[in-house]
Amino acid sequence: MVVKPAPAAPPLPALAVRPAHVAIIMDGNGRWATSHALSRSEGHRAGAQAIRPVIERLGEHGIGVLTLFGFSTENWGRPRTEVETILKLGAEFIDTYTDELNRNGVRLQHLGDPARLPGWLRRRVQKAVDRTAGNDGMIVNLAFNYGGRADIVQSVARLLAEGARPEEITEEAISAHLATAGLPDVDLLIRTGGEHRVSNFLVWQATYAELYFTEVFWPDFDAAQVDAALVEFARRNRRFGLVPSASVEDAGTAE
Ligand code: FPP
Repeated sequence: MVVKPAPAAPPLPALAVRPAHVAIIMDGNGRWATSHALSRSEGHRAGAQAIRPVIERLGEHGIGVLTLFGFSTENWGRPRTEVETILKLGAEFIDTYTDELNRNGVRLQHLGDPARLPGWLRRRVQKAVDRTAGNDGMIVNLAFNYGGRADIVQSVARLLAEGARPEEITEEAISAHLATAGLPDVDLLIRTGGEHRVSNFLVWQATYAELYFTEVFWPDFDAAQVDAALVEFARRNRRFGLVPSASVEDAGTAE
């Protein structure tokens, strides 16, 4: 993969709060390509090149976990050549960046069922996961052949296979058997490309995520766009189904 030098990043904005886990639906590669009179493959290539500066910027902000939606269980329905292009770009991404990510303490993990991935991609993913397993910096999950509902189904199936009784099928137990076991839930879910959907991404883990939708196509999502999303997150008032503490005026006095 030819690595384009990233433009100089703007100064890092200070943030009062930051998400522990950021997840990104990298949408708009095809429309970006059309708007530049390029092929869809070239759009995906530009999309793959946009990833590294985004990881770097999130790292500068001290984000602990990033999950990238590289290929969904539904994406197999795309034309075969496009599927091959995306999978090859995934492999190229690993070939190009694993060394650098490893040096920077990043731990790469794979989310999704590896069984349907071609062997050449499965082996590369596994090698990168093994190689970076001892790192204690940012965790970067590459979701390849991932579907949120399938993740929940496999979690429950694993629980049952372990002999769990009905009363042991709890929210905590399901969370602990998902592909993201041990990681914090998603705090901020970013979707580029103007669509306002979750598209079977981390449906369980993003239940209380703040959703950030931007019209910007993924290949144009850069450090300044990362900053904008994090600044917006810091402005949000997260209530998790509760009421704001200031509005509990009768607390302690109600009969
Ligand atoms: C959505 O754009 C993008 C994808 C389905 C693939 C994302 C893949 C990459 C960025 C490259 C490789 C990934 C990794 C993790 C290294 P779209 O094709 O749906 O765009 P459109 O909505 O404009 O058609």
